Amino acid sequence: MEVVVVERPREGVALVRINRPEARNALNGEVRQGLAGAFTDLARDPEVRAIVLTGNEEAFAAGADIKAMAEAGAVEMMLREAHRLWAPIAACPKPVIAAVNGYALGGGCELAMHADIIIAGEGAQFGQPEIRVGIMPGAGGTQRLTRAVGKFKAMMMLLTGKPISAREADAMGLVSSVVPDGEVLETALTLAETIAGMPPLAARQIKEVVLAGADAPLEAALMLERKAFQLLFDSEDQKEGMRAFIEKRRPAYQGR
Ligand code: HXC
Repeated sequence: MEVVVVERPREGVALVRINRPEARNALNGEVRQGLAGAFTDLARDPEVRAIVLTGNEEAFAAGADIKAMAEAGAVEMMLREAHRLWAPIAACPKPVIAAVNGYALGGGCELAMHADIIIAGEGAQFGQPEIRVGIMPGAGGTQRLTRAVGKFKAMMMLLTGKPISAREADAMGLVSSVVPDGEVLETALTLAETIAGMPPLAARQIKEVVLAGADAPLEAALMLERKAFQLLFDSEDQKEGMRAFIEKRRPAYQGR
């Protein structure tokens, strides 16, 4: 059984599914290799315009595999270079939607936060419980979470390790929307299909500028936006989009 399954359920949409149900989709080396490989391939594939990342009904992912690191030392953890396996997900130029049912804990919550949009089921739980096993988040949990929800909500989650419900996550801005558990994947796929119908160069520039701009001073970030905005006027899709509007027809985007 593959621990990471890649499917093409809709035109322009790839579905990446973590498939290690016996361990609540805990992220062991094999899962991380699988995710890194999948995102590397999908980034290059011109047929793919949006990616949905999901787990199963019980767990999106219950974190890094505790059994695989319980006896490890600091040097061993360093030599594992796990951050290299997160990089293809973080650097994915295409829109990524996390479809979250069940547990999104520790590395699982961090994985969800690598996405651009998070659709959560009503029963989903988000948390950074690392402190309860003597460690701390190591894949962006102290940084992406704080940027998403602010210091005081983040500190509460990080210092207590207590999970929060999907509704709480929604209220604090950690998810994009909450839907009934049974509708999470369908909602995410429909959204991905909508985004896959958008001009891919514009989607790519929006993602790049939002992410890069968040860590830059406002003036520099606004300049990034301006340059990207201007660049799109050299794309065929900009001409197509605007002409289609004026001619009152549906645009057909080519990604050029
Ligand atoms: C390894 C895990 C696991 C994990 C669950 N399992 N989470 N194995 N690592 N993170 C395994 C259990 O050992 C058990 O295996 C099986 O999955 C089912 O789990 P149960 O606990 O029996 O299920 P349940 O009662 O439904 O509870 C689910 C749970 C709980 C609430 C998700 O399993 C849990 O608290 N898991 C740990 C969550 C956590 O602390 N995550 C942070 C990890 S540190 P057996 O063999 O007994 O059937 C981390 C650091 C990130 O993420 C650093 C950067 C990557």
